[in-house]
Amino acid sequence: MNTIVHTFNDLTSLSTFGAEKIADCILGAVEQNGLCTLVLAGGTTPRLLYEHLAEMSKKSGTLPWHKTHLFWGDERFVPPTDVRSNYLMVAKTLLSGIEIPPRNIHPMETSGRPVDAAAAYQRHIQTFFTEEAGRAPGEMPVFDLVLLGMGADGHTASLFPGSDALREQHKLVVPATAPAGVEPVDRITLTLPVLCHAEQVMFVISGPDKKKICDEIQRDRLQAAAHYPAANITATNELLWIVARE
Ligand code: 6PG
Repeated sequence: MNTIVHTFNDLTSLSTFGAEKIADCILGAVEQNGLCTLVLAGGTTPRLLYEHLAEMSKKSGTLPWHKTHLFWGDERFVPPTDVRSNYLMVAKTLLSGIEIPPRNIHPMETSGRPVDAAAAYQRHIQTFFTEEAGRAPGEMPVFDLVLLGMGADGHTASLFPGSDALREQHKLVVPATAPAGVEPVDRITLTLPVLCHAEQVMFVISGPDKKKICDEIQRDRLQAAAHYPAANITATNELLWIVARE
């Protein structure tokens, strides 16, 4: 696994770089495999990056969205119309600006119980990779690119420090609960086994407090992994950290 760290002075330059990286990954995966499977990060940091990606796509008109499938790394367990929804954030910043077939958009269900929604999303991913990506039944899905954010406590997706979700070694998708003071509490999240099987992972991080954690992780990832869930993330080919100081 190749680890690369790019540091930027501001979120705008990080977002431009990140959008170009995603575009390159989509073009490369579609050329090589006939499709691209992309896992999107939630939160607020990726918003500008998604907007840049939509603008870039509009200008070039060459991104093969009809062969690109979008998944989510985690979701807050709220309706898709709720301002806290990761799906809604992506819909507003990216989906509204690109021509992508609705069947290529794979949001996490957030009705009923989190445990059932997590199991349903796992089945959905497994069926997709078997029927459309040529994986054998039961084989670990391999996403082309996973985007991840990181919280000030080092959490990533909805894998929080000390949580059962972080310790999950078999299931691909599980329910998760945010620690006290973090809203919304109920979430569902991809787990380390499926995240770490991705061809490429790109962390999208901004803020001085988070940059310090990134520096600690780069210094000694194994040591940091005991404290910060993000330090447990690996990738099959490339682990890229793009970090803005501001
Ligand atoms: C979420 C995200 C979460 C997020 C980090 C960073 O649903 O909140 O998946 O992992 O990426 O908390 O969030 P910010 O980008 O808003 O700082």
